[in-house]
Amino acid sequence: MNRITPLHDNPNSNSRDVPNGRAMVVLIMAAGLGTRMKSNRAKVLHELDGRPLISHVCRTALALAPEKVYVIVGHQAEEVRAAVENDFPSERDRIEFVQQREQRGTGDAVMAAKDALRGENRSVLVLSGDVPLVKAATLTRMLKSHESANDVCTLLSVRLENPFGYGRVVRNDAGDFEKIVEQKDASDEERKIREINAGIYCFDNAKLVNALSRIKPNNSQGEYYLTDVPVILKSEGAQISVFQHSDAREVSGVNTRAELAEFENLLRRNTVRRMMLEDGVTFIDPSHAYISRDAKIGRDTVIHPDVHVQGNSVIGEGCEIQQGSRIVNSRIGNRVTVKDHCLIIDSEMADDCAAGPFAHLRMNAQMEERAVVGNFVEVKKSRIGRGTKSMHLTYLGDATIGEETNIGAGTVTCNYDGKNKHPTIIEDHVRIGSDTMLVAPVRVGSGAVTGAGSVVTEDVPPRTLVAGVPAKVKRKLDDEPES
Ligand code: UD1
Ligand code: CA
Repeated sequence: MNRITPLHDNPNSNSRDVPNGRAMVVLIMAAGLGTRMKSNRAKVLHELDGRPLISHVCRTALALAPEKVYVIVGHQAEEVRAAVENDFPSERDRIEFVQQREQRGTGDAVMAAKDALRGENRSVLVLSGDVPLVKAATLTRMLKSHESANDVCTLLSVRLENPFGYGRVVRNDAGDFEKIVEQKDASDEERKIREINAGIYCFDNAKLVNALSRIKPNNSQGEYYLTDVPVILKSEGAQISVFQHSDAREVSGVNTRAELAEFENLLRRNTVRRMMLEDGVTFIDPSHAYISRDAKIGRDTVIHPDVHVQGNSVIGEGCEIQQGSRIVNSRIGNRVTVKDHCLIIDSEMADDCAAGPFAHLRMNAQMEERAVVGNFVEVKKSRIGRGTKSMHLTYLGDATIGEETNIGAGTVTCNYDGKNKHPTIIEDHVRIGSDTMLVAPVRVGSGAVTGAGSVVTEDVPPRTLVAGVPAKVKRKLDDEPES
């Protein structure tokens, strides 16, 4: 089973369609704490759609096929690095981390990466770790415009209804770029400007490094502002291009938890809508469905309220996923019913299976076709064969169970001796009586039957009936037809 697929799966990752073939590197500023989050956790580690903010930006950056992505880390650097490495295991040679020792502003953050900015005639795309929804297509258009015009600096702007908190783009009478002024440094007049700096820039590498060394922390926050770089470049006669974008939400930053919740809502609504319109999925209540952007759901599947489908889960066609179930990084076949309040993590259900209510599948639990697990059944790291049923109050751990077997109510695989886990094997056409304890390691042969309340401590030969504590062979079943 292809369980945790990496986030980045761009097939064209090594070709970049650029007008003049310039090499490009991406810098992602992610060193700040994010004071406005009121959190002990660095802002870029807060999750959107089940992934840290920084992972969203990294994914977009990688989709642009840059030479390298440099993530500038500071606050909780180790945690940020671990989060990125965890989400992009196969991109270790394309992602590097740069330490910004002290968080002295966005200009200082980029300066920390100056060794990465050497070389001839390179484009540098600067992104913010807290602007998670920007699309690769938008950045590609911006880069193309920057590179085909041979610009020194292009910055992305957008008009906002409420520009509070953002740097404003100030233009002169001719409408040309003049400067960016931060909220805290702006005059009353400037604060009325609705065009804001999205914090996304393209630079020529050498010109950027040169200008960075000249910025001064002469502002109300005493910080080195990256936004001063365009002003310095302009004073040297460079043309500063403003790439105006129309989708405000796409390029907005997350600064508070309230904004993060709005982003989450927006993403979720878009995902559910796309699945209804394009994939033919029914949502009983679209406003109470929590579906990851990376999940896939097949045609005519019905999703009831309060269902969570997370990670790279795949659900087939004609399924019914009932109220309150959560499916994480799992694969569900066609015509599967998941009844109310199931938890299915890193597991797999083949076609025509059913689970629940209140079933728990985890650590690579696998159900083959037509297998059923019912009320309060937990399945851990086990395989359940075709047509096998376990309907009530059961724990199956480290077990391999054959076909057309019935596991009675209250069965427990006693797989843990306090130190080690041991396997249980139950072959085909077995009937495990209610309240059977299977003390692992143990094997129950095909066609065998255990009596209610048996404690099975030794292997059960095929086609025998065992019962008792400890269970003993009571008789052979050769005279009885297989059920
Ligand atoms: C910044 C821009 C502002 C723009 C806004 C857009 C500056 C001075 N201001 O403001 O014009 O409208 O983004 O979202 O650039 N960071 C570091 N190291 C630091 C400081 C910040 O890595 O020393 C990182 C943060 O982690 C964050 C990003 O840079 O990911 C932006 O920093 P933030 O403090 O959020 O800047 P804004 O005040 O939003
Ligand atoms: Ca910000």
